[in-house]
Amino acid sequence: MADYDMLNYIDGMWTGKDLPKIEVTNPATGEVIGTVPSAGGDEAKHAIQAAEAAFSAWSQKTADERGDLLMKVYDLMIKDKEALARLMTIENGKPLRESRGEALYAASFLKWFAEEGKRVYGRTVPGAAPNHRIKVIKQPVGVVAAITPWNFPAAMITRKMAPALAAGCTFIVRPPRQTPLTALKIAEYCEQAGVPKGVVNIICGGHGPITDAFMANPAVRKITFTGSTDVGRYLLKASAEQIKKVSMELGGHAPVIVCDDADLDAAVSQTIASKFRNSGQTCVCANRIYVQSDVYDRFVDKFVTAVRSTLTVGNGLDESVNFGPLIDGKAYEKVDGQVKEAIEKGAVLLTGGKGRAENGAYFYQPTVLKDATEGMDIMHTETFGPVAPIQKFETIDEAISLANDTPYGLAAYFFTNDVRRGTRLSEALDYGIVGWNDGLPSTAQAPFGGVKESGLGREGGSEGIEEYLETKYVSLRV
Ligand code: SIN
Repeated sequence: MADYDMLNYIDGMWTGKDLPKIEVTNPATGEVIGTVPSAGGDEAKHAIQAAEAAFSAWSQKTADERGDLLMKVYDLMIKDKEALARLMTIENGKPLRESRGEALYAASFLKWFAEEGKRVYGRTVPGAAPNHRIKVIKQPVGVVAAITPWNFPAAMITRKMAPALAAGCTFIVRPPRQTPLTALKIAEYCEQAGVPKGVVNIICGGHGPITDAFMANPAVRKITFTGSTDVGRYLLKASAEQIKKVSMELGGHAPVIVCDDADLDAAVSQTIASKFRNSGQTCVCANRIYVQSDVYDRFVDKFVTAVRSTLTVGNGLDESVNFGPLIDGKAYEKVDGQVKEAIEKGAVLLTGGKGRAENGAYFYQPTVLKDATEGMDIMHTETFGPVAPIQKFETIDEAISLANDTPYGLAAYFFTNDVRRGTRLSEALDYGIVGWNDGLPSTAQAPFGGVKESGLGREGGSEGIEEYLETKYVSLRV
């Protein structure tokens, strides 16, 4: 028997033991570590009904009461953070150090939104006539359905669930088939904290039938999604039918610009942190690195030396490992294909460039390519893997134009200590998130999200809760 055999959590009950099972495997070993039920449209309908029934009482609680419950979930997650981190490592592959970081990151959204819920202010506006008053109030949108990715099995749930609950919405999440166990752990914390039944529902199963049920049901007023741009596009089109509210955190293709005045050691360490986080499998990972010609050779040398000496590939349960496997064979093929194509087109391989695929586990070495050019696929298509292609540029105008030459607009990074240059770059880069001498900008306090084909809406910050609120205006004649 696998270590984790878990059930879906719907209407405060653990359900689905008679359904077919989805096997969950450890990407570092290929071993089955657990199973979850494979639910479909009927179970999704049940979850929607439960969330709809729970909405009235939940939305009428005070923000303090909802905040207290979110803080209880936070406390339970913090208390259990080591077990949660181990679970993330075995189902996602990320090294323990990163999983521990994710447990704290995930919990931070619960704490942040427990407080933000208390600051959902309306306003009073002077009326158009002496006897006219205008009151603007904010109200929860209703039942929220979330579809979350495998790369952050906990944080991408709490970044949606915490603001939804704080705003007074009820919540259903369909986690990915690769990492459903962490999602169900979060349901356990909610249950233990006393979150009322139906307020949080976690349903594992087929993407198609569950998504169709979300889309067909008018009770679902909001869809929130993190994942690929293609799936986001599909969900946007499907949401149009009932004009559901949407938040989409989609693909990225983050540029890094290293200017000739930059602190090169800081640029190297921050770029490595951004590029190789989660083995390159985040939407905000650096995807292409542009370095100004005067410092190109020095940056490249320092970067390759640091990649070779600081990253240890292996099973993330081993405390000495800080670089885990890719999620699956498809990811491996994509990375390997991009590296081969870039080398064929003239990129120079400095380290890495190969992997190891055995028994369902896919490791790819941290890879650095220099002399990349615009004609290479890797300079245009999100890699979602551990490859750092480096290209030379001459002027800041050229760097801005290269960086903005993409349909994506999630995160961009640049390194300079010149305030004028930095101000110009931060305003000219067409991205939702800009890291200035900072390769890891994600935090609960800030509004995370993209422009162009990278998405709609923001998660985190004070903006994050707005996504779960409707604005109503009350026009009063006195
Ligand atoms: C993502 O990859 O979708 C999220 C990354 C982050 O929160 O930093």
